[in-house]
Amino acid sequence: MAKLIINNENKKSKIAPEIYGHFSEHLGRCIYEGLFVGENSDIPNVNGMRTDVVEALKEMKIPVLRWPGGCFADEYHWMDGIGPKEKRKKMINTHWGGVVEDNSFGTHEFFELTKQLGCKTYINANLGSGSVREMSEWVEYMTFNGVSPMADLRKENGHEEPWTVDYLGVGNENWGCGGNMRPVYYADEYRRYQTYVRNYDGNKPISKICCGPNGDDYHWTKNVLETCFDHTPEWQHGFMDGLSLHYYTIPTKDWGHKGSATEFTEDLFYQTLKGSYFMEELITRHGAIMDQFDPQKKIGLIVDEWGIWADVEPGTNPGFLYQQSTMRDALVAGMNLNIFNKHSDRVRMACIAQLINVLQSVILTDGEKMIKTPTYYVFKMFRHHQGATLLGSELVGNSNVGTEKNEVPKIFESVSEDEQGVVTVTLTNNSLEAAEDVDIMFTNSEKAYKVSEAVVLSGKMDAHNTFENPEVVKEAEFKDYESTDGGLKVKVPACSVLTLRLA
Ligand code: AHR
Repeated sequence: MAKLIINNENKKSKIAPEIYGHFSEHLGRCIYEGLFVGENSDIPNVNGMRTDVVEALKEMKIPVLRWPGGCFADEYHWMDGIGPKEKRKKMINTHWGGVVEDNSFGTHEFFELTKQLGCKTYINANLGSGSVREMSEWVEYMTFNGVSPMADLRKENGHEEPWTVDYLGVGNENWGCGGNMRPVYYADEYRRYQTYVRNYDGNKPISKICCGPNGDDYHWTKNVLETCFDHTPEWQHGFMDGLSLHYYTIPTKDWGHKGSATEFTEDLFYQTLKGSYFMEELITRHGAIMDQFDPQKKIGLIVDEWGIWADVEPGTNPGFLYQQSTMRDALVAGMNLNIFNKHSDRVRMACIAQLINVLQSVILTDGEKMIKTPTYYVFKMFRHHQGATLLGSELVGNSNVGTEKNEVPKIFESVSEDEQGVVTVTLTNNSLEAAEDVDIMFTNSEKAYKVSEAVVLSGKMDAHNTFENPEVVKEAEFKDYESTDGGLKVKVPACSVLTLRLA
């Protein structure tokens, strides 16, 4: 039995809705087929965007979408993706599958999609193979509301009003596919590029994101920040709003043979969870370096690529990164989202990779069919945390579970309170064998909380939805709880994710 002590008087940081963000790249069937089928498709769509997918993502409350990459971003030339479709340039997507990219999904289509989704926009610009001019003209094209060459071009292409760019990434993985740069070199480039990200609308400033580390590359973080903060007077605050972090969980830890998404042993299950739990250490240690330069935490840590990266499904294009998602993915998602919530004083956005048909997706499609993955349900169950205030919480008596080499804490949790005073508790039970009784209590028990909603997602570790059996794993009403004096006792099933709403 574990005790979850909620300090309902200790109101901590606001949980940025963007922590529940997503990433869409021109990779495999994420954009094409997954999101965009074109106006002439037989698949129901609005202006080319799949209606079933848009509806599901709205229901999940998608807060922000990152586009167009990934590695693709540093080879993307935005002008190829505007104007009449028949005239748009075709190119080979050299990073992903060597297929023809016809640029039929470009800037206008991205903003149409985010309008339909009602979410914020995160554009990742090209620093690796682009130019300062190309990037600054893209910003002008998207956001300038006056007379200018780029604003006029946008109008000629049918969009009178400027759009809102909420976030702009200045390059992607510039330590790797984005140019193989060293940190000091990249940081100098960042300083130059970001200078020309103009805020044309003072009321809607663009948040600028600097390329941060690959996993535990603390050297990168330190050197990039040192260079960026060198000779940067205080008045220039705003030169950096976020620093990205990319970290993928490879089930086997071997990039050459990552392991199947659906067939794995118990040991690999726990190894994957343990690998994913490394996120806690990464945030703490990169956060400590950021604290040296930015003690007031003005700059957010932006975990804009995370999730399980397994081998592709047998028989699919290796460059398309198409993988299934099981209950193991659900636990990884729940664990990470709980970790992000608990670090929401520094983590201001996170984008799981990737939205549809690529890596740890929330949705898979096959022609006109669409299924929701276990990861989808976790995002939906956790959506109440978006914009809420993190409450102090502590687990007492939490044991470890796993195999000899691969142990993880049994329960992960986070707790928040929304503006209406409704408390959301999210828990994962990582044990494959045993349920856990959790005694939930509040330090201030004057308010008698009652359960207003309780939802659980559970199943065997490898349970997953298929196009033939789309509802093997889905959220269900949870009833295994009872009121106690000033709190609640719940039995969290083995291998499960649980959301409780207490009003
Ligand atoms: O998400 C797939 C790829 O992983 C992205 O393009 C890149 O940024 C990362 O290496």
